[in-house]
Amino acid sequence: MRTVLLFVVCLAGAAMAREIDDIATTDIKQKQTVILKLLNHITERLMFKDLEDIGKNFKIEDSIDSYTKPEIVTDFIKMINVGVLPRGEIFTIHIDRQLKEVISMFHMLFYAKDFDTFLKTACWMRLYLNEGMFAYALTVAVRHREDCNGIVLPPPYEIYPYYFVRADVIQKAYLLKMKKGLLDQKLCDFYGINNTDKDVYIIDENIYDKRVYFNDEDRLRYFTEDIDLNTYYYYFHVDYPFWMRDSVFNKSKVRRFELTMYVYQQILARYYLERLCNGLGQIKEFSWYKNIKQGYWPWLTTHTGIEFPARFDNYAIAKDTNIDIIRLCEEYEKIIKDCIIKGFIEINGLRLELTKHDDMEKLGKLIYGNLDKNEADKTHVGAYRYLLIVMKAAIGLNTFNSDKYFVAPNVLDHYQTALRDPVFYMLQKRIIDLVHLFKLRLPSYSKEDLYFPGVKIDNVDVDKLVTYFDDYLMDITNAVTLTEQQQNNTMSDLVFMARKRRLTHQPFKVTLDILSDKTVDTVVRIFLGPKKDQLDRIIDINKNRQNFIELHSFIYKLTTGKNTIVRHSNDMHNLVKDRLMTRDFWKKIETVSDMRNMFVKNLRNYQTGFPTRLLLPKGQIGGFQTVLYVCVTPLRLVDNADTNILDTNRKDFVVDFRSTVLLDKMPLGLPLDRHIEVANFFTPNMKFVDVVIFHKTSSCDMKSRWYRWVLKDYNMVDRTPIDTQTNYFVDTDINDKVDRDVNLNDL
Ligand SMILES: *[C@@H]1O[C@H](CO)[C@@H](O)[C@H](O)[C@H]1NC(C)=O
Ligand SMILES: *[C@@H]1O[C@H](CO)[C@@H](O)[C@H](O)[C@H]1NC(C)=O
Ligand SMILES: *[C@@H]1O[C@H](CO)[C@@H](O)[C@H](O)[C@H]1NC(C)=O
Repeated sequence: MRTVLLFVVCLAGAAMAREIDDIATTDIKQKQTVILKLLNHITERLMFKDLEDIGKNFKIEDSIDSYTKPEIVTDFIKMINVGVLPRGEIFTIHIDRQLKEVISMFHMLFYAKDFDTFLKTACWMRLYLNEGMFAYALTVAVRHREDCNGIVLPPPYEIYPYYFVRADVIQKAYLLKMKKGLLDQKLCDFYGINNTDKDVYIIDENIYDKRVYFNDEDRLRYFTEDIDLNTYYYYFHVDYPFWMRDSVFNKSKVRRFELTMYVYQQILARYYLERLCNGLGQIKEFSWYKNIKQGYWPWLTTHTGIEFPARFDNYAIAKDTNIDIIRLCEEYEKIIKDCIIKGFIEINGLRLELTKHDDMEKLGKLIYGNLDKNEADKTHVGAYRYLLIVMKAAIGLNTFNSDKYFVAPNVLDHYQTALRDPVFYMLQKRIIDLVHLFKLRLPSYSKEDLYFPGVKIDNVDVDKLVTYFDDYLMDITNAVTLTEQQQNNTMSDLVFMARKRRLTHQPFKVTLDILSDKTVDTVVRIFLGPKKDQLDRIIDINKNRQNFIELHSFIYKLTTGKNTIVRHSNDMHNLVKDRLMTRDFWKKIETVSDMRNMFVKNLRNYQTGFPTRLLLPKGQIGGFQTVLYVCVTPLRLVDNADTNILDTNRKDFVVDFRSTVLLDKMPLGLPLDRHIEVANFFTPNMKFVDVVIFHKTSSCDMKSRWYRWVLKDYNMVDRTPIDTQTNYFVDTDINDKVDRDVNLNDL
């Protein structure tokens, strides 16, 4: 327990801990319940009478004084008068007009002077504005308002399951709902529908149904479509939206763009590990003038019934209609590269140096098109824009210079779904390459930078690493509609769960023996990276250093002599366990008297964490070779760090951090972030060890059922030989009697 606490404390110190004074009071419980109500069944009308009354009785025009920035309110009212995206339409922030509208909504929620005004504004918006925009604006606002500290948002896959569950599953839920739960037993077995409890229906998302697969990349779907991975990416965006001005951020959100770039690089590295486990090689280079080899068929629809479009293999990007946007992308990219190579940015009459590590922030702003003068409150989108959006526009929607307002977005246009598409990683790699270019211009770490006199890693020991697949139930009840009666009851009569297969691993621990000749504060970083590429060639360290994921990092006080540090996989840095289902969470907060324990136990890293299950890549049945790299460096504490964090008895805060090592002044990803001079690199305070990851196959009834029903007549193994004298097929139970009277149209 001590290590756990110490761990929590270290992390909380990352200048990111948010204290909750009122966490023990009922106040937080009330706030919490309101947010759950507002985000429940968002495609329905607001069912809760109390909130409906608040919304209906609120007059924004008469409440301008309740917002810290009155001009925000007048702009908002003007916008509403012009007309906004109606309820029922699909929303994407990749369309300028929709982006402006949703930022305006966010500003209203964010600049509300007190929680009361915030609540009234939210109820009003829930009644009258687009539900997708509302959910987005409210989510961002809750994460950025001080008085919303400690409020837990329902996970995005429960708010809007359409982004996370295949359309066939939702369709089956709809049919069941229409038939009031009447089951067709024969189809149930084939579809994998089970009625376990009264009124609870489980519907399989059968991953062995591969009819929408196009190419090798589809083997990674278990990873790219993982609901918790996509939630992680979405929540990162929510905490650090590219469109948000610095002035909105609380000052504690330091090193914003460095962290953003690091998180994106880590996702790429993690994805590459998964590719290698599946025998796939490097993420392909993206080119505007080459076809995109990898198609992708999402098999998702939105609640409007519009499908997410499929992109077939060998898709040609450049067309007459988007060649101008492609040129623009190339221009932007060239501007950024020029700045990096010249070592300064000249834009909007400003000159900013790009020569030191700290200049990452400026580079980030340049990449994100966020380099305006200090227009904190303008919702305006500058002429120079976020490259990635423009790139996505060229591939998908053509949102850049069209006046389209109602669109059929593709998966790249939503943060909840972008990770699904293989082309996402190609685009992201292109952006991260800009960061690599910048880092190449910085000097390599010298021996003095890396060497830690008197500290030596003596031994690193890792348990056997084993991954496997298991089942998970996800609540999709919010995806089906309600009758008037159920709206009056504020709940659905039937509950629907989608059963998903997902990657996980057996718990393991890492044991470090570190020798020290003094008592000293240190930062320990543990990375995991591949050893060989898909052709079994050892990858050169300077190529490979970008492929390491930060498994764990923590601050540790070494004592003189031998220090044995044991870290369990569950307690590693910024991980989140399975999130509670909102229906269970709701019940729980009604009964629990003090939410504090929940934060320590159930809710750790709820909104920031990377899924614990995906800490390790899938590995291979015969073992997948990886390298574990451990590095101990002296702690160079950032200025003004909160010293309270060293008090291990403190428990009264929500841990809300993204990176432990932000407490340390050194760059994220140290020491693998810079070019490695091999001759100067290896020091006693670091160690590489070989680690093998095994994958254990597990049986799954989804598979056996699929084979029994679908593959039975195609699979020649175990087939009884044909007896030409009698029946053609002897072991089938096909009903081959033909009823001649039946009208063909009825069949
Ligand atoms: C439904 O679930 C129950 C309990 O988990 C199980 O015993 C039963 O075999 C399942 N039925 C089908 C058709 O899968
Ligand atoms: C930032 O957070 C600190 C500590 O939680 C708080 O005192 C301060 O008012 C916040 N600043 C803003 C601008 O919200
Ligand atoms: C639902 O509530 C409304 C308003 O209270 C009422 O008029 C209506 O009859 C109710 N409908 C059902 C089916 O109970």
